[in-house]
Amino acid sequence: MSAQSVMDALDRAKYEVIPIGIDKNGRWLSGDPMAALTGGQQAEAATLLPDPQSAALMRLEQSETQPATLSAVAELDVIFPVLHGTYGEDGTVQGLLELAGIPYVGAGVVGSAVGMDKAIFKHVMVSNDIPVVPWKLYTSKDWAQRPSLILDEIEAELGYPVFTKPANLGSSVGISKCNGRDNLARGMSEAARYDRRIVVEKGINGRELEVAVMGNENPEASIVGEIRPRRAFYDYFAKYMAVPGSEDESELIIPAALTPEQSDAVRALAVQAYKAIDCGGLGRVDLMLDRDNGNLYMNEINTIPGFTRISMYPKLWEASGVSYAELLDRLIDLALERYEDKSRLSTSFEGS
Ligand SMILES: Nc1ncnc2c1ncn2[C@@H]1O[C@H](COP(=O)(O)OP(=O)(O)O)[C@@H](O)[C@H]1O
Ligand SMILES: [Mg+2]
Repeated sequence: MSAQSVMDALDRAKYEVIPIGIDKNGRWLSGDPMAALTGGQQAEAATLLPDPQSAALMRLEQSETQPATLSAVAELDVIFPVLHGTYGEDGTVQGLLELAGIPYVGAGVVGSAVGMDKAIFKHVMVSNDIPVVPWKLYTSKDWAQRPSLILDEIEAELGYPVFTKPANLGSSVGISKCNGRDNLARGMSEAARYDRRIVVEKGINGRELEVAVMGNENPEASIVGEIRPRRAFYDYFAKYMAVPGSEDESELIIPAALTPEQSDAVRALAVQAYKAIDCGGLGRVDLMLDRDNGNLYMNEINTIPGFTRISMYPKLWEASGVSYAELLDRLIDLALERYEDKSRLSTSFEGS
């Protein structure tokens, strides 16, 4: 839905849009990928070569009897990845685009990877004096080998409630809120289904604040928004399945009701965190404000946030005076700017 919104809003007087789809098996599709992904129609297989000499989308023709052939479909000037989760938002596809030598919207390899990994992200925050909630990290092998020791340790150090999370995922998949020992054991095993590493966090009675940040070296922050989930927490169902207007639907509040000092503190932390992970282009920075003591905690940076017209990221910019179409223009300009900056750097050492 985000990709369709972006394609619909791009100014066709300025841009020629070449849609590329990726199906659940990781195959790239050209032609009308949206129809193929949503309606099951046949699409053309496509690919991109990790060769900076050819910035072209290639059509891939394969048959049982003939050798595979590649033919260029179109030259690509810039790629706008609108992909969530593993392989889309974690630096892997960004790495391919680096090798292909094509400018792309959004964070580079490191910013994407750190934004995706909840444990590494927290380490980077801590070393930059940005507050995060108390937390622990376990491997799923640890969990399989010494569960009762781990449960004891979490109970002693974090107490209840805690949140158990796969370290490297998103969209609330595999996340549980745990209120007791049995519950916690189930949450750990659930997280272990999705990742080799499990993050356990102290549960905060917190307000969920979100800031849209945009830019490369000098990022700017939007006004602050708030998500108010009506379920136990902002889970997958609340994010993607809740029927609009139903009692499960979360509320988006723009601007969040904060004092000017609180709002300034949130925006400053958002920009600081964005720079700390070397984010680029865009990022939606999510924080929690503890209702009990007023403390602010950094939660995460989403390097490819939801991008429909009713998603928080574009709505925050709209409320800050940047329309959806202008936002797309600026993100594309930032992609080209970063590519230019990078192409001036030496990639080999010639001696002196
Ligand atoms: N430590 C915590 N305290 C309170 N609520 C939390 C905590 N961690 C996560 N949550 C709830 O779970 C949701 C999803 O967690 P989050 O870390 O943002 O994962 P994701 O990357 O999947 O969005 C949050 O939006 C919030 O509602
Ligand atoms: Mg989140």
